[in-house]
Amino acid sequence: MKNIDRRRRAVCMGMLGGLAGLTMGDAARARPTIDDAARVFRLDGGAVTYAFGVNPDGRLQTIYWGSALAPDDPLPAPAPVPENSSNETSITVTPFEYPGFGAGLTVEPALKVTFPDGVRDLDLRYVGHRIDGERLIVTLKDVSRAVHVTLAYAMDAASGILSRSAVVENRTNGWIQVDQMAAASINLPYDDDYRLSYLTGRWAGEFALQTRPVGPGATVIESRKGVTSHQANPWIALSRAMTEEESGPVWFGALGWSGAWRIGVDMDSLGGVRVTAGYNPFDFAYRLKPGERLASPLFHAGYSGDGFGGASRLFHRYQRTRILPALRPRPVLYNSWEATEFAVDEAGQMALAEKAASLGIERFVVDDGWFGARNNSKAGLGDWVVNTKKFPNGLTPLIKRVNDLGMEFGLWVEPEMVNPDSDLYRAHPDWVIHFPGRTRSEARDQLVLNLARKDVYDHLLTVLDRLLGANNIAFLKWDHNRAWSEPGWPQVPPAEQQRLYVTYVDNLYKLLGELRRRHPKVEIESCASGGGRVDLGIMALTDQVWVSDNTDPYDRLLIQDGFSRAYAPAIMMAWVTDSPNWVNKRATSLEYRFVSSMQGALGIGANLNHWNARDFTEAKRLIAEYKRIRVTVQQGDLYRLISPQGGSARSATLSVAQDGNQAVLFAFLHSGGMRDPAPPIRLRGLDPRKMYGLRTIAGGVAPRTPKRASGAYWMGQGIQPNLAGDFQAAAIVLEVA
Ligand code: DGJ
Repeated sequence: MKNIDRRRRAVCMGMLGGLAGLTMGDAARARPTIDDAARVFRLDGGAVTYAFGVNPDGRLQTIYWGSALAPDDPLPAPAPVPENSSNETSITVTPFEYPGFGAGLTVEPALKVTFPDGVRDLDLRYVGHRIDGERLIVTLKDVSRAVHVTLAYAMDAASGILSRSAVVENRTNGWIQVDQMAAASINLPYDDDYRLSYLTGRWAGEFALQTRPVGPGATVIESRKGVTSHQANPWIALSRAMTEEESGPVWFGALGWSGAWRIGVDMDSLGGVRVTAGYNPFDFAYRLKPGERLASPLFHAGYSGDGFGGASRLFHRYQRTRILPALRPRPVLYNSWEATEFAVDEAGQMALAEKAASLGIERFVVDDGWFGARNNSKAGLGDWVVNTKKFPNGLTPLIKRVNDLGMEFGLWVEPEMVNPDSDLYRAHPDWVIHFPGRTRSEARDQLVLNLARKDVYDHLLTVLDRLLGANNIAFLKWDHNRAWSEPGWPQVPPAEQQRLYVTYVDNLYKLLGELRRRHPKVEIESCASGGGRVDLGIMALTDQVWVSDNTDPYDRLLIQDGFSRAYAPAIMMAWVTDSPNWVNKRATSLEYRFVSSMQGALGIGANLNHWNARDFTEAKRLIAEYKRIRVTVQQGDLYRLISPQGGSARSATLSVAQDGNQAVLFAFLHSGGMRDPAPPIRLRGLDPRKMYGLRTIAGGVAPRTPKRASGAYWMGQGIQPNLAGDFQAAAIVLEVA
């Protein structure tokens, strides 16, 4: 990029120049600062400043997003980027906060509408602003038609993470159709060496980290599946060439939406990079009658100058404090799925429960197969009544036994789905998402209930409320095992059918919210064939997520590393299952499987009927150890000391407790060879002056490792785990002593 272009954009984004006029003190950091004369808005939080303003044309333009500026730094009102040529007009290269498709815009719009007279031109100009609690509300309106847009900005005081959203309101006398709507457009500071990181995958292979340079053109990650998806996750990070794990700038963001979504990262012809995140415009149309509104999801965006590690630690903290409905250490759970699949019954589950209790398990979860005619995937989904062949006396005796053994009871459900071979479908074949007269494509022998319908919503609320009311259930594993197909909603007129994409998810959130309100003690896990529904929208209504059906402990290290880029270990469930693993037939030791799963919220999913006495003794000890470190692992600061990405033979993570008094090192050797040197692992995030004692939970350390040393020592000299062979692991605890 030529320097002249670079400078021109810097001027236009207000990063140079001399007008001051903004004052703010530390005490006001979370509250927006507004320069009314210049019409410039500034949000400060953590170590971040975000600023935008009204340009002379009345359009809302980004000024700055990055490391915190000094209170009196100049932030003049923005000026549009001048036209470069008739092919790069000003409108298309100026960094707007929320551009409508109109006035010649050819880059990605935040909002695109169609009017009844065929006009598809939307030119949004500033109307006003107000402060609403912690939120800054800015209103825009089309130049001539009564389409109003309300933008909301809220910055978290501690992390500097900004949440943004928009509401479009039709105040015209006719309908308007929203063809495309984002939560936000976010412009990156002008630079020419951005890298984009994002997460892709598939069933049993979620959260695969991808990184590519950002160049001219667009990268689009999306789900068209009606659910968040395995294929891509709605999180991105933009870094610079200089950025490393613990240094350099990272701008990151995630969309809180569990339906079809899209995030586009595009570079315009003058090198400006913008992120546009919101509803997926593919097959999207939301018609608004006069007076109606449509709200976007929330987009959460942050900045860290401390590399990818700094970015994820900020985001984890934000999720724990601002997104999750409650934060309590995850109970160690047992889940029946891999042990018994659909073959659950009272005697079998009781036997497993007794064995689980002897290990120190705190929550016993019966997975699929307990209801209706459910003996395999072909029948029963939708009939949420206990299968009396398997549980002749209902669930009560099992629940009582589980409770008597000192455990909570949890149950699997998949409320949004139905098998055609079910009483529910036979009674209500019209309740599924479909197009009349067309094939209803099945996946895993099931169809998707249309939760956008009020009768379906009411039915699910009644059935689940009854289930939770009648049984002492502490936990629901809420599954969703297929993508949508034939996304029709024939009950409503054709012009309204595509509201499905929004109304379904709104009703899902409403349903989860209402169940939580009625049953405040029940915790919920979001699962979608593994990690197909992990996002900040569902996270606000659930307590934990099932990350992948792939429980191989080595594959899981990669999945967990990818997951940790975006999401907090506080919600990341990880089970110890049987070896060889069903996914890839890899054989690993029980200790290795435990250490891998201890990186998150520990669960056991093995068939305990196959364990011997030594397995029980070892598992019992490791579960007890895990309980002593779980708050640090789940809610501490995570350092990816050596990432498994890229085929590295070794990997290691360190979790440091919020008070700095405990740290847990997990180290793995995937495959030793050639007498490779293994440098000591140098820790991070400890208090250099505190003295930490070392305790080994699993594996070992090199012979001359001290038992006690300062944080400075462990960070400077490091620790050498004693790992040799294949699939070896060590878990080492450092405690202030
Ligand atoms: C998919 C989930 O990811 C599994 O853990 C299990 O619950 C099955 N569904 C049950 O059908």
